[in-house]
Formats: sequence, C-alpha cells, structure tokens
Amino acid sequence: MPDDVVTMDKIVSLCKRRGIIFPASEIYGGIANTYDYGHYGVLLKRNVVDAWWQAMIGDRDDIVALDSAIIQHPRTWEASGHLAGFTDPLVDCRTCGQRFRADHLDAEHDVRCPRKPSVLPGQGPDCNLTEAREFNLMFETTIGPVQEAGSTVYLRPETAQGIFLDFKTVLGFARRKPPFGIAQVGKSFRNEITPGNFIFRTLEFEQMEMEFFVPPDDAHRWYLHWLEARMDWYERLGIRGDHLRLRAHEQDELSHYSSATSDVEYLYPIGWQELEGIANRGNFDLTQHAQHSGEKLEYFDQQSGERYVPHVIEPAAGVGRATLALLCDAYDEDEIGGEARTVLKLHPQMAPVKVAVLPLVRKDGQPELAHEVRNLLRRRMQTEYDEGGSIGRRYRRQDEIGTPWCVTIDHQSLEDRTVTVRDRDTLTQDRVAIDELPDVLAGKLEAPWISPKLVVED
Ligand code: GAP
Repeated sequence: MPDDVVTMDKIVSLCKRRGIIFPASEIYGGIANTYDYGHYGVLLKRNVVDAWWQAMIGDRDDIVALDSAIIQHPRTWEASGHLAGFTDPLVDCRTCGQRFRADHLDAEHDVRCPRKPSVLPGQGPDCNLTEAREFNLMFETTIGPVQEAGSTVYLRPETAQGIFLDFKTVLGFARRKPPFGIAQVGKSFRNEITPGNFIFRTLEFEQMEMEFFVPPDDAHRWYLHWLEARMDWYERLGIRGDHLRLRAHEQDELSHYSSATSDVEYLYPIGWQELEGIANRGNFDLTQHAQHSGEKLEYFDQQSGERYVPHVIEPAAGVGRATLALLCDAYDEDEIGGEARTVLKLHPQMAPVKVAVLPLVRKDGQPELAHEVRNLLRRRMQTEYDEGGSIGRRYRRQDEIGTPWCVTIDHQSLEDRTVTVRDRDTLTQDRVAIDELPDVLAGKLEAPWISPKLVVED
C-alpha cells in the first residue's frame, strides 16, 4: 500500500473520538456492520448528498427526482431477478460456528478464523467447513400482524427498482422524453457477511442512483458520457485524482442485467475498491417489469411515430463509501510548533462546519461580539461557536473535523471591529473587517480548490 494511504484504524479512531461515525447499539455490545452517524457525520454526509443532487438536478435539465418506497410489491424482486439470483455463496464452520463467504476464503480477502492460530478459514487444525450454500442477501419481513397469515415482503436491496416501477407515471407528468433520467437517494438493505471494514460494506446504506433512459442506439454514447461525468464529480469533491480510477468489468463479472459496467474505484486503506458502479442495463428492467406486470413500459415518440423500450444507463453510488473516501483522502497528520496535529483537509464545501467563531478570552465583551459575528455568519454557512479551552486546543478541535476557517475575536476586535481569519491548511491569519466577513468567507467557499495534500506530494 502506498504510504500516502491512511490506515483504517486511524479513520475509525478519529470518527469515534469526534462522534462522526460510531458503532450502532453500542450499549448492547454493537451489531455487526451497522453504524450511526453523529453530528459532524450527518453534516458531512448531507454535503455529499447535496453535491450529488446539485450535479443531477441543479446543473442539468434532463433529470427529475423521485423518492420511492423501501417496501415494494414482492413481485418486483421476482421480475428484477433478485429473488432468484441476488445471492452470496456461504460456508459455516461446525467448530467455531462462524459463517464466511466461500468466495472470500483466499489470502487476498484476509478473512481470519476467530480461533488460534490465526489462519485462513478451513486451514486450522480444528476447522470443519460445510459445503457452500447460496444465501439470498435480501432482508425478508411480513406485512400483517400474524406472521403465518401475512405476506412476505422485502426491504429493497437497491433503490433502482422503485425508479423502474414508476417509469410510466413519471413519464406522464415530468414532460420529458428520452434521453432523460430519474434520480433517487435513499436507504437500501443487504444481509452482508463481511469482515467488517468500517462503513465500507454495511447492512443498511444510502444509495444515490440515477436511471438515465435513452433511445437504444444512443446507449453506448451515454454510457461513456456518464463514466466521465461521474469521475469528474469525485474530483470536484476534492478527492485526489491519483487515488481514483475507472475499472471496466470483465465479461464474467457483469451482473445479469448488464451489457457493460465500469466501477469508479478509490484507493481505500483496504486497497482499490468500488466507490460507484456505472452500468449499461440495456432494456432488461423495463422489459422484465412489463412482462411481470402486464403494463406497457415503453416510449412512443409522436414526432417520429417510433415506439421503443428505452435503454438505461445507471450511475449507482453509495453515500457511505463516498463519505469514507472523503475522510481517507483528507486525513493528515502534521506538526505545529512541535505539537502533533490531526487534520482533515477536506474540500471546504464538504467540510461539516465551514467556520468556527472563537473569542480569545471568555471576558471583556469578547463572547458577546463573537456571538454577534456568529449570528452574522450562520445564515450563510454552517458555523460553530466555541469558547472552551485554550485557543490552541480549540484550533486543534476544528482541524480534526476539517473546519477550513477559524475566526478569532480578540481585544483589537472590540476597538476596530476586525477579526482574524485562520486558514486550516496554510495556517495564515488575516485581519478582516466584521462587516466584510460574510462575503470574504463566501468567496473563499466558492473559490477553486485542490487538495493541499496533492500540492505537498508534488
Ligand atoms: N442498482 C445497482 C446497484 O445497486 P451495486 O454496485 O450493488 O449496484 C451501488 O451498488 C453502490 O452502492 C456501490 O458502488 C456502493 O457504493 C454502494 N453499496 C452497495 N452495497 C453496499 C453495502 N453493503 N454497504 C455500503 N455501500 C454499498
């Protein structure tokens, strides 16, 4: 692993220390692959989702938004192929009772037997693995108060199917014709057995998916368009280009619905891994749902008289994986005045808090003026007020959560209504008039940005 890749332990420890992301149900000992987001985690995740909506519906006119149900008619999953084919091969160990993915037993995945000696499952003296069995990843539940009499339904394993089910309805009111897209953000659920790589693979996770419906002959062109657009998006979030790559799937890796897929991959602490998948799904989904429901799911072009089932290009991203990539890419450690500092060098637009307002001392009218400044800024950007501890400690606290600017109120501020603006990355401190502060900071927030880690590495 290159030495500019942070370890997962450091990310997990920072996230826990600052309440960004931490294990769920902790008072009961936690629950596998399930995490909660605290205050700064929520703000960071919201910035990711907002940036995605901006790229999908703010910057373009050819995509509309949707929020479909998590529990859909159970026949959805018959038609989509998930009931029959959305499975992982699993083996159980009769000795230790652990369950492993049969396709993850090799050294590359580094899954370990929980007993001593620490070896790959199946290689210890007492290991006794069953044959592999296919295990469906969908969570099943029941509608109705009595389990036996109720009908079985599933928590959606992807948001995409809700979009296909609503294709006809949306086409009816959105006043759009192919090429056009339907975008959705929401939770999906998969009963994953994994070695616990923090939030990389979790049981419930948020997806940002967009199904782009196009005339069949244009599908490949649009596939190429979305590969480029999605790579650009991650770079615009500030992720270093040399830690991102596109990888085309081999023929034998393709999902049942796909004629071509490429993954945007990020160099996580666990190696190059999928951040987002971009697939050419052809007309598989609309055709399947048309057959299973009896509804015509096609487009009739009144001008040309042509009738066709649109093909679909799908960029499908995970909010958690994008958040984790941002955290890993921004994490840095340096030294200021001989003291170690942990800092998140996040793109200012992604930072959970944009500006912290800090009175130098808790007296002499400084807190009052600091509150005034805070109130001036809070409508323009996410702001935090902090008066607890030495100024150095307060700077360190903000560095750890990636706050790009700290505004300090000192004795001079009371005399001439100016403050200092400290920059997280350059550590410069500039004096700015309070009246001009909102515009100065808003200008900095909008300015072009590249990762300072990239600049230093160069
Ligand atoms: N509709 C296509 C689809 O769901 P996918 O590659 O299975 O494709 C898309 O999922 C994205 O959702 C992934 O690239 C990843 O970012 C995220 N994702 C999938 N499973 C996940 C899990 N168990 N935990 C966290 N994120 C996950």
